[in-house]
Amino acid sequence: MHEIISIKNISVNRGGKPVLKNLSWTTHSGEHWFLMGQNGCGKTTLIEILVGYLWAQDGKVCIMGEEFGHTNLRDLRTKVGYVSSWIMKRIQPDTLVEDVVASGVDGSVGSFEIKSQKLMRSVKNKLKFFRSLELFGRKFGTLSSGQQLKCLLARAMVNNPKLLILDEPFSLLDVGTRIDMYNHITALCKTKSAPQVIIVTHHKEDILPVFTHGLIINAGKAIAQGRKKDILKPTVFTKAFGITKNNFEKYFSK
Ligand SMILES: Nc1ncnc2c1ncn2[C@@H]1O[C@H](COP(=O)(O)OP(=O)(O)OP(=O)(O)O)[C@@H](O)[C@H]1O
Ligand SMILES: [Mg+2]
Repeated sequence: MHEIISIKNISVNRGGKPVLKNLSWTTHSGEHWFLMGQNGCGKTTLIEILVGYLWAQDGKVCIMGEEFGHTNLRDLRTKVGYVSSWIMKRIQPDTLVEDVVASGVDGSVGSFEIKSQKLMRSVKNKLKFFRSLELFGRKFGTLSSGQQLKCLLARAMVNNPKLLILDEPFSLLDVGTRIDMYNHITALCKTKSAPQVIIVTHHKEDILPVFTHGLIINAGKAIAQGRKKDILKPTVFTKAFGITKNNFEKYFSK
């Protein structure tokens, strides 16, 4: 097992206020993680650090042994796939699906001209994996939320990354589409060259059996991290969300 994410004592200020405070987090190959915490506790901020959109004021960030500040961030970005509503909102509606998927090659948002047969094959393969090849040729803005999500997953996977980060990916989906996505993520985690998957979520159902570990953040601090069975506990949830043991057992432990 080798380290995929290694974050040591990072602190981040946004708008003049501390958002992440002395946070450390380590993940290893073979693990898949969920990340939870109250609104505004710093989850997306942490993810933005990992994808190199934001810089920590203090501390050390390594992905697959490469330390931020001492490595080519553009190269590193090609090893990390990222799906979030932030990306979804920034894609021009008239961009073709294949160009959106291809833009994952360099992590740019939106359009990327397909110049090689190899890239075209990869775009088609990824759309096929997410059973969305029929979207080829469609404009992104004409797709349903579920179809847009599959397109963004294909984009995030176009380089076969070692790390796939999903920031609240399922929030807009109906039950059927959500279950369809659960099956896609499960299938992906079971492939031989599966990336480590990190999902930010507020919903217990999103913590699929393939997720092995969890990180809980409260007010910018990592208050619990480790194996799922040690995280999905009333003591942790009382600390993170202020819910009682009774309410945890009533609504969360089943
Ligand atoms: N660009 C920004 N400028 C200033 N403050 C920001 C910026 N982006 C986020 N923040 C602040 O940083 C804090 C953490 O925000 P973040 O988006 O990381 O929270 P989150 O845990 O992802 O919340 P949610 O569950 O609602 O998505 C919040 O107080 C937020 O207002
Ligand atoms: Mg967020």
